[in-house]
This record gives sequence, structure tokens and C-alpha cells, in this order.
Amino acid sequence: MNIPINKPVFDDEEIMEVVDVLRRGILTNSLPEGGPKVKLFEREFAAFIGVKEAVAVSSGTAALCLSLMALGIKQGDEVLVPSLTFVATANSVLLLGGKPVFVDVDPKTYTMDPTDAERKMTSRTKAIIPVHLYGLMADMDSIISVAERRGIPVVEDAAQAHGSQLKGRKAGSLGVAGCFSFYPSKVMATGEGGMITTGDSDLAASLRSIRTHGQEVVGNELLTARLGANFRMPEVEAAVGLVQLRKLPKFLEVRRRNAKIMSEVLDGIEGLELPFEPEGYVHNWYLYTVKLCSQRIRDKLQEALNLRGIGATVYYRTPVHLMPLYRRLFNLEEGLLPVTEDLSRRLLSIPVHHGMSEEDVLMVAEAIKKTLAELA
Ligand SMILES: Cc1ncc(COP(=O)(O)O)c(C=O)c1O
Repeated sequence: MNIPINKPVFDDEEIMEVVDVLRRGILTNSLPEGGPKVKLFEREFAAFIGVKEAVAVSSGTAALCLSLMALGIKQGDEVLVPSLTFVATANSVLLLGGKPVFVDVDPKTYTMDPTDAERKMTSRTKAIIPVHLYGLMADMDSIISVAERRGIPVVEDAAQAHGSQLKGRKAGSLGVAGCFSFYPSKVMATGEGGMITTGDSDLAASLRSIRTHGQEVVGNELLTARLGANFRMPEVEAAVGLVQLRKLPKFLEVRRRNAKIMSEVLDGIEGLELPFEPEGYVHNWYLYTVKLCSQRIRDKLQEALNLRGIGATVYYRTPVHLMPLYRRLFNLEEGLLPVTEDLSRRLLSIPVHHGMSEEDVLMVAEAIKKTLAELA
């Protein structure tokens, strides 16, 4: 078996689009508005999410950094982030000179705990970045109400949440800005690439300027009006993104089917907690993440599955607050976030991606069942 945890699926459609861009020879556009494929990708992505604007950038990390920059996050500002996430969430704050303040997560949904967020607020807190972890949206109603009481913006880290929903609204449409990644492991992929969604046209204009050295068109001149850099998305990536976006509903359907089969086979196994969709939520099944009863069992299960060619993976074995850089910078130690630390020892993500057939899913599910029976 060779089933990686995630993998991009392309066919002739993406290949023909790439060839077409290369033949036409328009590879990028350094104006704030971007090239023709970028503009079209932005329009279609905004329509899919249900927001007014989308701004394509060079990565999910760039999406986070630019959003914080456009919102004026600066030296000394505190930004609330979870620690059970990819390091980019916190690094984007650090890159702007801000201080990430780590918030614990809910033990059932694994997303930011709004009560702990409220507790970690200070007079220096200037934004909150909830992460829609593994494709399940954070408790946005509670987080937004915490933020609104303080008049600060919520930036959604939706890097893993293409197509996820909460009460009929898509990830990326609830915060002031939503940040997506199109890294190859993601539900839709362009190679490197990212997108910022927003309902605020002024914010979108700032973001388009920041992504190309803070430039603005004034008369027939391009003038730098604010600090920016090159965070542009190339036309080839936008062309691939357009095809992937049109296929996204199908990808989501296959993932949902795969997750359902996985849950049917694994249901009722003692010591194994399965992922779920709380009332009102739609998961995109970016990752199917189970919770084991101990670190020993988790690690043994991962080892056994990896030996059979099943790419079960731990996200995240070292939470961000315990990364060497963060320990050193902020003097952080184990014990700061008990739920996050416990989960980092017991969670294991299982492949259910849209490149897998029903037979693949059944083989993986049976391998898990058999291994857990042997370990019991
Ligand atoms: C939660 C989260 N945030 C941010 C990112 C950063 O995205 P990128 O790798 O495209 O920079 C990723 C993905 O890698 C992610 O999973």
C-alpha cells in the first residue's frame, strides 16, 4: 500500500491550463490588480466563499502576514493564537514584531477555546486568529463576540478549511479576513499559493497594494504609498487554482464519503475517539483525526500503519509554544496549555483524501482495527 496522508490530484485540465498560460506568455502582472488568471481566480474564489473580495497571494503564510499588516498589527501588539496549529499562524505575528499569545483548545473539537481566549486578553491584544483545524471551523460565534466586546478584528486561519461551513456560512466569510493556503497537501492545490477573503473593499485594496510593494496607480505612475513587498501569485498557479476550485465540490464529496466509511468501520472501538461534526458545522475532512487513549498506543498505531505504507501523521507532535524559538523568546514551558499538550500526545491523522477509492479507505480502516486489537 502507498497511501500518503494527503496528495494533490491533477489531470489534463490543469496541464492544459498551464500550457495555455505559458503559450500566451503572460506569467505575472506587477500592478496591484494582478494578471488575468489571478483576477478571475479571485472572482471565482470570492463567489465560492460568499464574500465580496478575494486577494490572491504567494502562500498561506503570506495571506496571514498581509492581513495582519493591512490591519495595522505592529511591534508590541499581542495577537491571540492557538498553539495546536502549523507554526505559520504564530510566525506571521512574530514577523510583524507582534507577540503571539497562546490560547488553549477545546478537548472535543480541538479548536480555540473562547473562554481561554477571553482570559488571555490584555489591553495590548489587537487581534485574534482562530484556526479551523483539520477542516472543522472554530467556534466563531463565541470568538467573534469576545473580539467585538474589545473592538478588535478576527482573522480566520482557514488554510485547512476550503469549503468548511458553520450555520450555512463558509470558512473565510466570518472574520474581517480569511486566510487560505494552496500548498500541495491542501484540499485544493496550486503548488505554493494563498488567498485572503474579505467583505471589506478598502481592506482588499490595501492587500492588493501590499502584495506588490505597497504600490498604487496614481495618474500614469505607480507610486509606493505604504510598505509592501512581493507576495504576488504567478499566473500559472492561478490557472491551476481555477481548475481545482471548479473541482472542489467533487473533492469535498469524495472526502465526505471516505470519512463516513472510516467512521462506520471504526465506530465503537474502545479507546478510540472519532472526529465528528458538531450541530451546525460542515467539516471538509481535510484531515480525519482520531484521539487514542495514550501516547504509547498512538505512536505504536502510527508506526504499524506507516510500516504498511499508510501515511498516518501526527499534527502536531510539538505544539508551537514548545518550539525551541518560542520557548526561548517568551520563556515558555510545558504545562502552559494542558489540553493542547495532552492532544499533541494522543492525536493521529488518518488519510481520507480525495485521491482514495472506497477500497483504499476500507483497507486503511481495517488496518487500524486490526492493529488496535493487537495492541489491546
Ligand atoms: C493552519 C495553517 N496555517 C497556515 C499555513 C500556511 O500556509 P502555507 O504553507 O501556504 O504558507 C498552513 C499550511 O501549511 C496551515 O496548515
